[in-house]
Amino acid sequence: MNIRQYLEAKVREALVAAGAPTGSPGVVRPSSRANFGDYQANGVMPVAKKLGMNPREFAELVLAKLDLDEVVDKLEIAGPGFINMFLKPEWMADQLITAQQDERANIQPVSKPQTIVVDLSAPNLAKEMHVGHLRSTIIGDAVARTLEFLGHKVIRQNHVGDWGTQFGMLIAYMEKLTSENPDALSMELSDLENFYREAKKLFDESPEFADQSREYVVKLQAGDEHCKNLWQRFIDISLSHSEEVYERLNVSLTRNDVMAESAYNDDLPNIVNILSDKGLLKEDQGAKVVFLDQFKTKDGDPMGVIIQKKDGGYLYATTDLAATRHRSRTLHADRVLYYVDARQSQHFQQVFTISRLAGFVNENCSFEHHPFGMMLGEDGRPFKTREGGVVKLAELLDEAEERAAVVLADKGTNLDEEQKVKVIRAVAMGAVKYADLSKNRTSDYVFSWDNMLALDGNTAPYLLYAYTRIQSIFRKANADPQTLEGSIQVVEPTERQLAIQLLRLHETIETVALDGTPHLLCSYLYELSGAFMSFYEKCPVNKEGVPEEIKNSRLLLCALVAKTLKIGLDVLGIETVDQM
Ligand code: ARG
Repeated sequence: MNIRQYLEAKVREALVAAGAPTGSPGVVRPSSRANFGDYQANGVMPVAKKLGMNPREFAELVLAKLDLDEVVDKLEIAGPGFINMFLKPEWMADQLITAQQDERANIQPVSKPQTIVVDLSAPNLAKEMHVGHLRSTIIGDAVARTLEFLGHKVIRQNHVGDWGTQFGMLIAYMEKLTSENPDALSMELSDLENFYREAKKLFDESPEFADQSREYVVKLQAGDEHCKNLWQRFIDISLSHSEEVYERLNVSLTRNDVMAESAYNDDLPNIVNILSDKGLLKEDQGAKVVFLDQFKTKDGDPMGVIIQKKDGGYLYATTDLAATRHRSRTLHADRVLYYVDARQSQHFQQVFTISRLAGFVNENCSFEHHPFGMMLGEDGRPFKTREGGVVKLAELLDEAEERAAVVLADKGTNLDEEQKVKVIRAVAMGAVKYADLSKNRTSDYVFSWDNMLALDGNTAPYLLYAYTRIQSIFRKANADPQTLEGSIQVVEPTERQLAIQLLRLHETIETVALDGTPHLLCSYLYELSGAFMSFYEKCPVNKEGVPEEIKNSRLLLCALVAKTLKIGLDVLGIETVDQM
């Protein structure tokens, strides 16, 4: 249980003891200002209102029942009936030492782990992975790691687009190239973007080729061996392109996590049959459609979701219906989280609604679309190359490394070449990921090299630098954070600020796990670094004349800050370095 929850449970007990109905929530939040204490309980007023009592008088009753002597050294009633809580420095010190001595900073795995499916990345394999899938990959990965850290069973599902009409065109083009020159094909396939463009050009120009492409789609879907082999070869190459990107970005996705659209193909007729048996399907101009009262068209009529086209073809939604069924019934998910851009919100709401109507999913399985906004260029328009084309991820990451090298050179560094390469990579990938993670997921975000690579501000370079500064404090003190012993004292105001921030790691991580909002953890780490810098200014460690005991206490605090930064960045999928 984290501190906020602990306090909340105590307030709940006190509310009930003071006469509130059982189950009345304590509503404890971190205080917005230091003079309001460390935490504030907001649960008194609504209950007083229900009981028809004066809220401040009721707060007095609650206060009398509140058993927090061990933890808190001051409780006060504020405003219309808030309760401000000031933690005891000695208690904080105990908590800090326990956290410092534990590898996981005393964050225990949850007592009831859930099975959580995370749908992330999901590029379309017909082309190379581009920035459109960056946010899904990075945010989804951070949330998956967070959930895992808390002890949940996470099943990653990379729902790649590997099916559909484009693939007929692509394999027809493979066939054509092989027949002309068998050796040319591998070369051509090394640049998928170009390969796609050439195939599309031919498709548009040559009716013969277009016919052949269509024929290949049908053959592919009918399981024709030759077409399937060509298709498989294409998919393998495309997937390995994505995997290179994952590897560079330190994203925890492997081939085992791929559950492609094609994998659901055989199940699609079942989906149609079940919907039909349940009386949910209607024929509409030859197509099979589910009409949903929950969604209205512009004219106010129930909106139709096409499940099967007139020609027998299935749609994106059909596959997603099969996927919800698989995730709930076969993977036994308690929650399914979708990291897919906000433009698909309606699609998912419809899919979830139909899945429930059709009984494809367990009633208590929670389906959550966690949408995100678009990535914009500095001109505020969708992120494009200077020529207006799509930005390939691999090229974007190259540029990040070039720019990180410049930042490091400008800053000045004593690292040798080998170390430098490592640091440049960590800073570059960290910067790209953190820039994305630190923004509120649901808003559009502006991709700016200068902002993300700045050494101050809420950036990865700033946090990585703070981490290295702590390492250098240890080097200077000739101390090993692993073997430090002794006690922590929380005395100075900056120490207290730092202490309370350190103690909030657990509740922050839990909020991220619940809402899928890594930006809260980013803000937390940024504030922690700020609190550390203020502390370090006022509370020197290595300065002459600092008594041994105080020095040791401060070193312990430094060690816990480093540990906390490391856990936080790990959970976000960002690698730390010891020197910069
Ligand atoms: N491939 C899709 C796209 O690029 C995203 C898939 C997201 N996941 C899903 N289950 N539909 O738009």
